[in-house]
Amino acid sequence: MPDSTKKDILVVGNWKMQISLKEGRELAHTLETEITDEEGKVVVCPPFTQLAAIKANIHKIHLGGQDLFWETTGAYTGEISGEMLREIGCEYVIVGHSERREYLGETDLMVGKKMRAAKRSGLIPILCVGESLLQREKNQTLEVVERELLAALEGIDASTNLVIAYEPIWAIGAGQTVEPKEAEMVLHYLRQLISKKYNEKTASQSRMLYGGSVDGENVTAFTNQKNIDGFLVGGASIDAGEFIKIVKAAM
Ligand code: PGA
Repeated sequence: MPDSTKKDILVVGNWKMQISLKEGRELAHTLETEITDEEGKVVVCPPFTQLAAIKANIHKIHLGGQDLFWETTGAYTGEISGEMLREIGCEYVIVGHSERREYLGETDLMVGKKMRAAKRSGLIPILCVGESLLQREKNQTLEVVERELLAALEGIDASTNLVIAYEPIWAIGAGQTVEPKEAEMVLHYLRQLISKKYNEKTASQSRMLYGGSVDGENVTAFTNQKNIDGFLVGGASIDAGEFIKIVKAAM
């Protein structure tokens, strides 16, 4: 069981580009029925085209975007602003996911701009950081996550509601997680950096998530770690049964 002194648990489902609108509606309906109010915060991040339809069907679970653009309005074909996400009912937004860094060329600088845009529009950013397999083999994990964190927090003040997800890139969608103790160590390190940059209060109020192949089975190995306040779930979040297991284990 999680320690009773732990702060609010947050479990985020990142649906990526994995399911149709019809499947998304069914999934949201099942989650809404099965998840009770007391179970902390559950957030789903559907594709942009499904946000309005999913929002109309949820009351207990919360909504997040998978990305945002840094400008408010303008001639930016294909982009979606934080204000637009807010308008449709999003409270959260994923920023700097490794798939966007890898396939869309998102740099630390762009991630920083997106963090500030999320803050400006009143969204809670879920910042993703994590090392590649090569960086891990070179023992660069802490160096990489530190660089990504500090670049993302540039211009962000202490009053910001921070959610940081440590997602080792090699563990995403791989069916293989990092050792829970190692995730704990990295998240502890990140929390200390937040404390150093801001203060103890901001650090203790920041929610630190683990992400990377979390499922209904392996989740329990992570729930007792002191610095793990929840999960960012990809593959298992589009399977209602698996996701509900994760939520129940985490809360
Ligand atoms: P996964 O994805 O759970 O499928 O590994 C996690 C993520 O990309 O956020």
